[in-house]
Amino acid sequence: MPDLRAPRGMHDLLPDDEPLWLHVRDTAERVARAFDYRLIQTPLVEDAGVFQRSAGGDSDIVAKEMYVFDDRGGDRLALRPEGTAGVCRAYLEHGMASRPQPVRLYYCGPFFRYDRPQAGRYRQLWQFGVENIGDGSPAADVETIELQHLLYQELGLRDLALRVNSIGTAETRHRYVATLTEHLRPHAATLSPDSQRRLESNVLRVLDSKEDAGHPALVSAPSILDFLAPADVDHFTRVCASLDALGISYAVDPRIVRGLDYYARTVWEFEPPEAGGQSTVGGGGRYDGLIEMLGGPHTPGVGFATGIERIVLNLRERGLGPAAPAAPDVAMIALGEAGEAAALSVARALRAAGLAVRGATPGRSMRAQLRSATSAGARFAVIVGDAEARDGVVQLKPLTVTADQATVAVGEVAEAIRSRG
Ligand code: HAM
Repeated sequence: MPDLRAPRGMHDLLPDDEPLWLHVRDTAERVARAFDYRLIQTPLVEDAGVFQRSAGGDSDIVAKEMYVFDDRGGDRLALRPEGTAGVCRAYLEHGMASRPQPVRLYYCGPFFRYDRPQAGRYRQLWQFGVENIGDGSPAADVETIELQHLLYQELGLRDLALRVNSIGTAETRHRYVATLTEHLRPHAATLSPDSQRRLESNVLRVLDSKEDAGHPALVSAPSILDFLAPADVDHFTRVCASLDALGISYAVDPRIVRGLDYYARTVWEFEPPEAGGQSTVGGGGRYDGLIEMLGGPHTPGVGFATGIERIVLNLRERGLGPAAPAAPDVAMIALGEAGEAAALSVARALRAAGLAVRGATPGRSMRAQLRSATSAGARFAVIVGDAEARDGVVQLKPLTVTADQATVAVGEVAEAIRSRG
């Protein structure tokens, strides 16, 4: 075992993981494009203020989990712990408000949280996310939820449970937080140490504490839905009605509060049915105040992000995903000096014709090269020795079906492969 390893909670993506990983990423991009979302890529690091101002200085993500450092020029930077704030920073910086609204954006990339590593919880994690900026209507919430729902359907994750809630405006939460704190304080001694701490710093997060799930004080806690202003109630009612009309099943759960301060009105999470709130596959919500927090004009926005590793875990548990890894169409086999040179130009021509070609390993025996062609899953071996090079031909050998090897002129190899399927 080498003494240098990947940092704790961070993982290498290995070739064996590739088929499932690409399947998830490609499916997500296809679904986002079907809703006319366009790719945005923001830097992996941002000015730390981007997250402090938006996600909230008291949120776990910023206060405990963010990787912050001063660069050599003295700028205080952070590895991005989430995507929404950076996308909104880019929206403002590039004047996207002057484009037709809403602006629909998607992203896929690594994020960093100094969390306690465990199954499904990493310090470098991948998210696929979308942001719909500039549309404050319930229809935008519904479109975003529908996109996320369709993504899981397309991947075969049909049993994920959707829980939705509305957390109203900052003013709603202010009033609710006061009432909830008053309700919970007499029970403080019987709550977990984590919840006791949060009772003072971030009482909303006590609601989704996994240790205290089922605690009588939480079961009897007041519901934030009773604190909503009439316009927020109307917004939420319309979101629910549209989900009903689309046949997307969901449960209203007043305990979904999310861990970031920028949310307002609709919030939601998707999770495996048996998980009990501990392994959310993806979540999102509306963040109408976020762009103002970053110094821009009032601009509504809504979006979600889903953890790619958590999707992959769920697909693996259910035995879902692509059956076979990608294999090359052709493996070149070169023998002799002239054969080696000819194999290079045959391979180049085949690639130009659109085939995936694995290069030869000249110097090894015919048997060894054939063995590695077969284990790579190539459909054909194209064999070029000195005699073939001299005559301008190759030997075309099917590897995945029993059929005879054929002598084919160099200029006709691609066609011969195509005609053999
Ligand atoms: P989030 O709920 O913090 O939301 O993260 C979204 C998803 O990222 C989670 O549901 C989970 O699948 C994955 N995830 C989070 N932390 C980890 C971790 N330590 N290890 C593995 N996976 C993890 C956001 O990030 C918001 N920006 C979502 C959003 C977009 N809201 C509006 N637009």
